[in-house]
Amino acid sequence: MSSAEKAAELLMKLEPEEYRVLQAIELGMANYSFVPMAELLKFAKMPEREVDFRLKKLNKMDLIYRRPDPYPGYILNYTGYDLLALNALAKADILKSLGRPIGVGKESDILDAITDEGERVALKFHRLGRTSFRETRRKRGYIERRGRASWHYQSRLAAEKEFSIQNRVHHGGVSTPRPIHQNRHVIVMEYIDGYNLNDVARLDDPRGFLDDILENVRGTFKIGLIHADMSEYNIVVQKDGTVLLIDWPQAVNVEHPNAGNLLERDVQNVLRFFQRKFRIDRSLDESLDYVKN
Ligand SMILES: Nc1ncnc2c1ncn2[C@@H]1O[C@H](COP(=O)(O)OP(=O)(O)OP(=O)(O)O)[C@@H](O)[C@H]1O
Ligand SMILES: [Mg+2]
Repeated sequence: MSSAEKAAELLMKLEPEEYRVLQAIELGMANYSFVPMAELLKFAKMPEREVDFRLKKLNKMDLIYRRPDPYPGYILNYTGYDLLALNALAKADILKSLGRPIGVGKESDILDAITDEGERVALKFHRLGRTSFRETRRKRGYIERRGRASWHYQSRLAAEKEFSIQNRVHHGGVSTPRPIHQNRHVIVMEYIDGYNLNDVARLDDPRGFLDDILENVRGTFKIGLIHADMSEYNIVVQKDGTVLLIDWPQAVNVEHPNAGNLLERDVQNVLRFFQRKFRIDRSLDESLDYVKN
């Protein structure tokens, strides 16, 4: 069971005092790699006996980790952080119920859910500690100058960045799931009924589909962005045959020093896939000209 699934199961079972202690740990983690009791008491505003009792329960549920003596201190586990985000989304009347896991990516878990208005949505939980730090650092420019940032901080930054970019491209007319909300490391977006392009055995009109992809890459470029992780794994074929681009946290501005290479790699990945799978030959230069117009 994924961390997000476990969090979904626990959401209604936790008591308000337990959320308060989780939140106190979260606040303390901004300043401590392991949050000591004295710090927790400042934030939790509960008697030490009560805090201690809640910590033991949270520990048993595996929502937190306690560093042993002689320097005891607490940190959140992924599921603990997931619960803080889910609780906030439920309290803000955004989520009504949580459903099944949709996917587990390299750096995310995806779950489906229903909003208060009854809309089916997808929740993307960012998980940046999952791959090695070096790898993360290479892929994601925004932590380069921050030194050793904690996984939950990195994951929240990734979600914030993805949410803001997804809003920009969505409003710029690019076909992408409509972003709805973001809390901590979690993004709520429109649920997409479709298949990843890499899982699709055949397309009715592969040439037309390739045109649609390039049109969306062009639309992205037009509003000043490059996806920078474009491939058949981040392209979805919707049930009605239309294209969607997903997975935006690594997108860069067109002024990025490496923008030219990143755009070329994006387009190259797509063209190679269509050549390999559908025997379609498209010139890289012409495609790039079209995208950059
Ligand atoms: N809005 C959505 N509706 C339905 N399914 C989705 C939605 N967003 C993502 N998915 C599914 O979840 C999978 C993973 O999502 P995404 O590509 O955004 O993250 P990721 O692959 O984990 O990110 P990374 O490339 O950093 O590992 C997608 O391939 C897709 O199958
Ligand atoms: Mg992906």
